[in-house]
Amino acid sequence: MITALRGMKDIHFEDAKKFEKFLDIAVDTAKKHGFSMIETPILEETGLFLRSVGESSDIVGKEMYRFTDKGENDVCMRPEGTAGVVRAFVEKKLDRTGGEYRFYYFGPMYRYERPQKGRLRQFHQFGIESFGESSYLEDASLINMAAMIFDRLGIKYSLKLNSLGCDKCVPTYKKELVERLTEISAELCEDCQRRINTNPMRVFDCKNESCQQKLFSLPRITDVLCEECESDFDGVKAALNKIGITYEVDKNLVRGLDYYTKTAFEFISTEIGAQSSIAGGGRYDKLVESLDGRATPAVGFAIGIERISDLITIDEEKRGGVYIAPLCEEAVLYAFDLSKRLRQESVTYLGYSAKSPKNHLKAADKQNALWFVGIGEKELQEGSVWLKNLETKEECSLSVAELKSKIQGNVK
Ligand code: HAM
Repeated sequence: MITALRGMKDIHFEDAKKFEKFLDIAVDTAKKHGFSMIETPILEETGLFLRSVGESSDIVGKEMYRFTDKGENDVCMRPEGTAGVVRAFVEKKLDRTGGEYRFYYFGPMYRYERPQKGRLRQFHQFGIESFGESSYLEDASLINMAAMIFDRLGIKYSLKLNSLGCDKCVPTYKKELVERLTEISAELCEDCQRRINTNPMRVFDCKNESCQQKLFSLPRITDVLCEECESDFDGVKAALNKIGITYEVDKNLVRGLDYYTKTAFEFISTEIGAQSSIAGGGRYDKLVESLDGRATPAVGFAIGIERISDLITIDEEKRGGVYIAPLCEEAVLYAFDLSKRLRQESVTYLGYSAKSPKNHLKAADKQNALWFVGIGEKELQEGSVWLKNLETKEECSLSVAELKSKIQGNVK
């Protein structure tokens, strides 16, 4: 038997319902904030991710589904959505209009990670990218949007917030950090040692206790922000305070992707185990430029849909829809034609062969249908149908025209 690849999952039944419920709420919330849909290809030129997510990141360095296609192109299955949306934004020359553009998207992402609960190799993200707005209020508005989605789903979270600085404050800080890290290099783990020269701020993300102790006294970028970053960070915090969103400043929050500047944030759930980050995002004011566009401020976030799946509850499904039951051979095609007409308005199930009412009723019950429509010889002769409400058990005989209004709830 062929099974799905390790770290990849089919989504059906209960999971599919949760997925749909999530998307309904997320898309509705995005639209209410003025966002429109964008869909970008899963496969992109590898260079796109090298130049955005960053060669020194784990995602690019270790986890990419990368291969050479039949045309000898170096391609990659997207590990995240931001890079593709920025590529599309620049390719469509939207950067030259000086306007604001707000997009939402959802779809599969691919990271060759070690699978465990909440960590898959194919997973789905719902993402948001906002271009052209430099105000810190946009950062706060996006954080509020993610919070709203979780609130509407009844998911509890905590919010971690940090500022990662900009190209005015980061270079001096990084230079000093590298010097300090080089001094203690021998005492750090291999990953941290490698990061000293590739991406020194990422050392603060190290989960190794002994590294954390060694790094404890080193300054974080948040301690040495330039005036503009400091004032924007204060602005985001004040805006969140104003709208009642609780957060914790986490100076160790550095994010796993290289493109962030200024605000960075993560939503955490304590109810789902070790992989507790349910959403992450931040500002990336330099990314459009570094992908050959005109300088454009931007900010976004993405929610991991599988991560929150266990936290989404589905209401018990009420009976709904119509089940059409041909009770004699002659009624089979008549029922088929009736199903076509009813399906324009109502969810309709159809028995394909003539069976006893008892057998059809069983099938209708399995579908959780509300209405049972039986058509036998008598009904064919009279031009009527036998209608039964499977909840109240009431039954009656009526014409097809009456049936249509009855099942739409027009006739009591
Ligand atoms: P990220 O933090 O790498 O950010 O991923 C966002 C979310 O995707 C995570 O918080 C997590 O819920 C989910 N996720 C990540 N990896 C996995 C995995 N292996 N299995 C299941 N879920 C996973 C980004 O991807 C950025 N593009 C977010 C962003 C948008 N920043 C600005 N705009």
